[in-house]
Amino acid sequence: MKELVVASNNQGKIREIKQMIDGISLLSLNDIGFTDDIDEPFQTFEENALAKAGTVHQFCNKNVFADDSGICANALHGAPGVNSAHYNGSRDDAANLQQLLADLTDKVDRSGYYKAVMCLIWDDETYFFEGVCEGQIIKEPIGEGGFGYDPIFIPNGYDKTFAELPPDVKNEISHRGKAVRKMVAFIKERLETEAS
Ligand code: IMP
Repeated sequence: MKELVVASNNQGKIREIKQMIDGISLLSLNDIGFTDDIDEPFQTFEENALAKAGTVHQFCNKNVFADDSGICANALHGAPGVNSAHYNGSRDDAANLQQLLADLTDKVDRSGYYKAVMCLIWDDETYFFEGVCEGQIIKEPIGEGGFGYDPIFIPNGYDKTFAELPPDVKNEISHRGKAVRKMVAFIKERLETEAS
């Protein structure tokens, strides 16, 4: 079975991605013995995803993908965006969520979106896949599931937060789900071409 390294240590993301990919052996950074922290210094999701995928590819020389993702509030001109994971200066999900609520306190426009960009390095070529999920950022956290900003994000067309919706529903409509499905379709096509 062909191997693919997920260049992430975020257990919430890895868990979600594992639920969406089969037919490929998915390796984590632990599995390949990569223990360094990878910086995300850039101001676009694409550049950060490429930096992460490139670093891990150089380390293991295997097929690898990295994603960069975040939540963007329209009233805050797209913030937290690429800074979602450390918006208040820490990597504490609950503190970052509270920071976003504080920044939105006096804003009427509560619309926003999650965005995910996957960078795949497959047979030494680089590809990008993107997914967006639009919704509303509510004033109080509701729900126990998901991770990060999920308790304050209600996707358009639903009346529950991502932290209340079952994981399979979130995967179906989420930014990451959309981007991963595009990437998986691409990989399947490549595997079929290689097999024929
Ligand atoms: P990174 O992609 O590892 O830089 O982290 C993205 C950050 O964006 C996460 O740590 C979360 O704060 C936030 N984020 C991205 N996707 C999601 C999601 O599906 N649910 C909740 N928070 C998310």
